[in-house]
Amino acid sequence: MSATIISGKELAASKRQEMKVEVEQLSKKGIVPGLAVILIGEHPASKSYVTGKVKACEEVGIRSLLIEKPEDIAEEELLNLIDSLNNDKDVHGILVQLPLPKHISERAVIEKISPEKDVDGFHPISIGKMMIGEETFLPCTPFGIVEMLKSKEIKLEGKHVVVIGRSNIVGKPVGQLLLNENATVTYCHSRTENMKDLTKQADILIVAVGKANFVDASYVKEGAAVIDVGVNRLDTGKLCGDVVFDEVKEVASYLTPVPGGVGPMTITMLLHNTIISAKRG
Ligand code: GUN
Repeated sequence: MSATIISGKELAASKRQEMKVEVEQLSKKGIVPGLAVILIGEHPASKSYVTGKVKACEEVGIRSLLIEKPEDIAEEELLNLIDSLNNDKDVHGILVQLPLPKHISERAVIEKISPEKDVDGFHPISIGKMMIGEETFLPCTPFGIVEMLKSKEIKLEGKHVVVIGRSNIVGKPVGQLLLNENATVTYCHSRTENMKDLTKQADILIVAVGKANFVDASYVKEGAAVIDVGVNRLDTGKLCGDVVFDEVKEVASYLTPVPGGVGPMTITMLLHNTIISAKRG
């Protein structure tokens, strides 16, 4: 078997085309969706992610406001900046790129963002609403993963999903979203014993470990759908995921590539959340 490749790049392009039309229609009603993106310091990967987000905004006609601040910014100054954006009616979404410098409390910053503008879906109120299945901004990477599975009509209800990774940004929420879709969810992590015994039972395997080539074919059940969330840069400069692509594609029924898989969908769901926020006004 050779897996069907789920191209996040193609799905993102078609969703962004639809969004462009929607943003044009909104602008005729005098609504221009606006996203403020705050980047602290010089973290190279963060810079590149933020550039991608700002470019994607331009592509669909969302007004983006990139605010760059030095590494040594005081926490209070950052909190005051967020406060002013909370009160700016032209800003519908606020995103503070993570990670933050050590002297700044990530929790304090995330909690300062108004839940009405929390397009990253990281605020405890957003997370709580997601947990109880209430409408809210969904975190972009997990949301993008669910959209990728649905785009191929992969059945979720009753299926066994195994998530490797338990981060607050990806692992935990993607399991919750799939539980909301009536999947049966198992989490694996660095302390899990006999991990392969669990992953080999997965109908859908989601890999968000952050280690290049962590999952080879021996982790995967024949016919499983495998979603690779990892983005790792090798010494050669090449990007690769957490999954050994060439091996796993011979076992899986569906597989996402890196690059061109989950990454473009994360940004697309951020655009989606910003448009939803603008429509709410
Ligand atoms: N750092 C890594 N991924 C993300 C993300 O989705 N949002 C923000 N704000 N920071 C990140």
